[in-house]
Amino acid sequence: MTDLCSLRLNSHRSGVDIIDQTLLPHRLEWLGLDSLEAYCESISTMRVRGAPLIGITAAFGLATALLSDSTTGGFHSAKEALLATRPTAVNLQWALETVASHVLPLEDSKRAAAAFECARFLREQDIDSCSRIGEFGRSILQDLLLDRGAEQLQVMTHCNAGWLATIEWGTALAPIYKAHEAGIPVHVWVSETRPRNQGAFLTAWELQRAGVPYTVVADNSCGHLMQQGMVDCVIVGSDRTAANGDVCNKIGTYLKALSAKANSIPFYTALPTSTIDWCCNTGADIPIEVRDSGELLSISGMDEAETFRRVRLGGTGSRGHNPAFDITPAELVTGLITELGLIEAGSAGLSRLRSSL
Ligand code: MRU
Repeated sequence: MTDLCSLRLNSHRSGVDIIDQTLLPHRLEWLGLDSLEAYCESISTMRVRGAPLIGITAAFGLATALLSDSTTGGFHSAKEALLATRPTAVNLQWALETVASHVLPLEDSKRAAAAFECARFLREQDIDSCSRIGEFGRSILQDLLLDRGAEQLQVMTHCNAGWLATIEWGTALAPIYKAHEAGIPVHVWVSETRPRNQGAFLTAWELQRAGVPYTVVADNSCGHLMQQGMVDCVIVGSDRTAANGDVCNKIGTYLKALSAKANSIPFYTALPTSTIDWCCNTGADIPIEVRDSGELLSISGMDEAETFRRVRLGGTGSRGHNPAFDITPAELVTGLITELGLIEAGSAGLSRLRSSL
């Protein structure tokens, strides 16, 4: 699918290199992470981002911290530091708890090696889950194309839920990559995803590298495109899904779901089951990250002299409010595409899924 992945093991297999996503699409640079502080900084500044990748990076961060302090106290303080980096994506908590359950019963001297082994396992598991999501999603897209009788399927996505947000394949983009590989003609509407532009910067970059036809559109144009009959389905990812099927994803997802419903367009969420938080009964229980308003009141990119710049939007003195995620109620979601298949979005579908895990 791609010659790259978002996080690779270094040659000693005891640390990782990440793609610094804050430099994309302008520069592709790898960054080695070798301390707890470096892991925490990379997650909180969004050098790595996307729910599954945040979780796997944090697992490696915890293992790295254990190399210098493998006591139970050291473990808990490293875990707390990593947990504090970003609040919404539940994969962070899930990955850290998974490492904890493997490592804490062991004697101190065995903990670091066991934690790395666990982190490597989570990485492999994510690749497998995303590939399966891709296969289930591909067959949905294939059926939809037949149903529409169109020459090309028009899929809309939001934010970046491609391989940059996972390890390989992605969640929402996995069905698109699998469809493209299978020769199913797909075109992707990529909404820019203000304020951090993950759509325009990252999704567009990924799709271009893969040769998948796409067009970047302003977030505000998406309702219009749906109303004009230019969208056959919407697929997005999820940062946390509640036990009733409410989906938390990048800010702006809810508006797309409302518009899809109003225009009878299928709206799918693609997610590994690690993104489901069984402790959240509904979306109202999910903590929504509010980021610095500077992200909203400025924009960064390359100028004509190929210099990377951050510029202010508008005059000085405006106040901003920058919630990073929103909740899409389950009744607006056509289905959840998971590594175990297509799940009905709602308490019944989720509880059937839970009993099969
Ligand atoms: O703030 P980000 O860039 O980490 O947000 C990412 C998203 O909202 C993705 O859509 C989500 O993590 C699903 S990714 C597989």
